[in-house]
Amino acid sequence: MSLQPNIFIPGNGQFSDHERAAVYRVIFERRDVRRNFLRTPIADDVLARILTAAHHAGSVGFMQPWDFVVIRQHATKRAVKRLFEKTNTQAAMRYEGARATLYRSLMLEGIEEAPINICVTCSRQRGGRHVLGRSTVRDTDLYSTCCAIQNLWLASRAEGIGVGWVSILDHGAMKRVLGIPRPVKVLAYLCLGYVSDFAKEPDLESVGWRARIPVDQLIHHESWGNLISGSGDGNADREVRHVNRGRGKERLGRQRAGKKAAG
Ligand SMILES: Cc1cc2nc3c(=O)[nH]c(=O)nc-3n(C[C@H](O)[C@H](O)[C@H](O)COP(=O)(O)O)c2cc1C
Repeated sequence: MSLQPNIFIPGNGQFSDHERAAVYRVIFERRDVRRNFLRTPIADDVLARILTAAHHAGSVGFMQPWDFVVIRQHATKRAVKRLFEKTNTQAAMRYEGARATLYRSLMLEGIEEAPINICVTCSRQRGGRHVLGRSTVRDTDLYSTCCAIQNLWLASRAEGIGVGWVSILDHGAMKRVLGIPRPVKVLAYLCLGYVSDFAKEPDLESVGWRARIPVDQLIHHESWGNLISGSGDGNADREVRHVNRGRGKERLGRQRAGKKAAG
């Protein structure tokens, strides 16, 4: 894999209308993908571009705490899939009735179907004992790694590559499968591949699991509770029902703690 991918970097610091539209387009058309993976291999230079985009995320104190374990071998994917199956069986037991049936029908991973899996880790000791900006909020290294993952997700979408984040895994067991050292934290397990189709909306929305919260219910003016929209009481967790555009049979309530959607 080339370590110097050919990435276009514009010269004058301005974005044209077309470029700006492309940025928003990739944000809105990014999807978590678990199906429709094609066998088409991801070329090394494309993967290098995506990983380099991830590596250009912001990080606390410029810590760059991430590493990427790139998995192509089927035996490794199979071992991780087994971990998923075990954890998912336990996760399914949290739900009852129609919700349990719906949960079991969800496709929540594409580990073996995706040509490449990537485990993203966070090395919490990188940068030494005192990382600039991290003394008060220790978890800023984790936040930084999530920024890298989002870059990876968006760059992949721009390349026509789907990414599915699988969090229904025992990270301790996965570290043993992948030989990840004890102090290094697993942040994400991602399935990557070209796909035949990107859905227009989240799968969980189309199956009626949960709907998108209108953004104006989440924007507070100066202090908590003064919604920009002037509607609601500022606590989106208490908003009871979401319009589900008629697709879900259930009337969706906000899922309280302990009834979280997968992941
Ligand atoms: C931290 C994180 C963990 C996730 N874990 C899973 C998972 O284990 N299985 C799954 O099917 N989707 C998982 N997802 C995907 C979410 O379900 C998805 O992002 C959400 O439904 C919105 O859909 P979208 O990404 O297509 O916009 C995860 C997403 C995030 C950010």
